[in-house]
Amino acid sequence: MDTAKSTLIFLSVFLTLCCGQDFHTFVETNDPSNNDIRLTRMVLDPNNGRLYVGSVNRLYKLTSDLETEEIESTGPRDDNQNCIPPDFVQCDSTLVSTNNINKILVIDTDNSQLITCGNVYRGSCETRDMDTLTLIKWYYRQVATTTDGSTVAIIAHGPNNDNTGVGPNVLYVGRSVVPDEAQWILLSSRLLPSSNNEDPFTILKDETGNAGFVQVKADFFGVYSDFNIDYISVFESNGFTYYVSVQPKVDTITSGPFVTKIVQICQSCSKYKETYIDLPLTCTGSDGVDYNLAQSAFVTQAGDDLAEVMNLNDNDNKDIVVVSFAKADQTSKIPTDKSAVCIYSIKKIREKYLEWLDICASDPNQPTGCAWSSTALEDLCGNTWLDDVIGVDLCACRDFGKITCGTKNITATPCYTSSDSLITAVAAVSHSGHTVIFTGNQDGHLKK
Ligand SMILES: *[C@@H]1O[C@H](CO)[C@@H](O)[C@H](O)[C@H]1NC(C)=O
Repeated sequence: MDTAKSTLIFLSVFLTLCCGQDFHTFVETNDPSNNDIRLTRMVLDPNNGRLYVGSVNRLYKLTSDLETEEIESTGPRDDNQNCIPPDFVQCDSTLVSTNNINKILVIDTDNSQLITCGNVYRGSCETRDMDTLTLIKWYYRQVATTTDGSTVAIIAHGPNNDNTGVGPNVLYVGRSVVPDEAQWILLSSRLLPSSNNEDPFTILKDETGNAGFVQVKADFFGVYSDFNIDYISVFESNGFTYYVSVQPKVDTITSGPFVTKIVQICQSCSKYKETYIDLPLTCTGSDGVDYNLAQSAFVTQAGDDLAEVMNLNDNDNKDIVVVSFAKADQTSKIPTDKSAVCIYSIKKIREKYLEWLDICASDPNQPTGCAWSSTALEDLCGNTWLDDVIGVDLCACRDFGKITCGTKNITATPCYTSSDSLITAVAAVSHSGHTVIFTGNQDGHLKK
């Protein structure tokens, strides 16, 4: 209930901000069949101010005044994750009534429909009418994760046919691993359910069969069966898609301490194994406190004031990433009340990627990192490929087959800290040249 409450309050405030309207609230009412209330996802239709909200077993469509226009039931469903829906043929396990937690909620603007994916039916997705929320079609593809895992998704440009620039939109999905063979796919680009695509929600492939995904090696799991990555957020900037994740600091130690990382994927290359790069994103207080667990992240444009502080010139990409962090309880993944907000410019993030690749290029014996990955074909940097990668601005779409997980920190000191409340959400707006950051904590309080 607490989480739901804080989400609701943010929702009202965001709308007041963007639309200059009075304060409205939306409260999901409890009902005996749905006592597991948790608002999990929301998305705004910029064309008409409608807000879509995904919850447990429910989907809502709200007006810009937060009045409920439509409610659609999405669960519970009779399900068992060992069995293949919808027929469950040859299933030895019993189907049990399972709450359907919304994991993905995006507007597919190209095809004027909503895409929703939940934990039930193995994380499969549905398309829905944007006006009535009624089901258009269900697709059997394992896209989201099961009950406990994390999933983030956006629709953005994929590559064109020959990987020379951006092309049709795809669904970018980051999810924690699903305990199921062949499903250890962490990041992928998936085809949208449009009439041009024969097999919606399958992974994008180029003409020669190179697919857009990264996966955990099966034999890695053989040894480190608890390995996992939690994806906190996904966004795009200037032809690249970024994921913020929390994962074990050392690949081969599946427990903590944990670190936050930021992954970059180039949108004009179908082969993730050519462009995937990640580096740790650190947020360290002036008192040395390491706020290591990202809680939320989002991209926005810097106002003039912040652009100056962050050394962003007129011609630079003005996108900044605003991330809320918590300090972990010892080496666990459990956040404490010590929390902070750190801001990074995309420009700086990209400079650090290049610095890391320079390190890799100057020492062929440097490990590439990413011990978990099946696409890191070799474990050492080597030296024949990097000039190409660096030369084309981090988007060489060749066939070198190296993803890299660097060790160079992308650092920032907090612009805001709180020692007694966990910041769970963060938003920023740029207003008359000033960047205003809003934070919300677990108890539903907002600070500006
Ligand atoms: C990166 O940051 C972490 C956490 O602040 C720190 O423990 C580590 O020493 C840093 N690594 C490098 C190479 O600076």
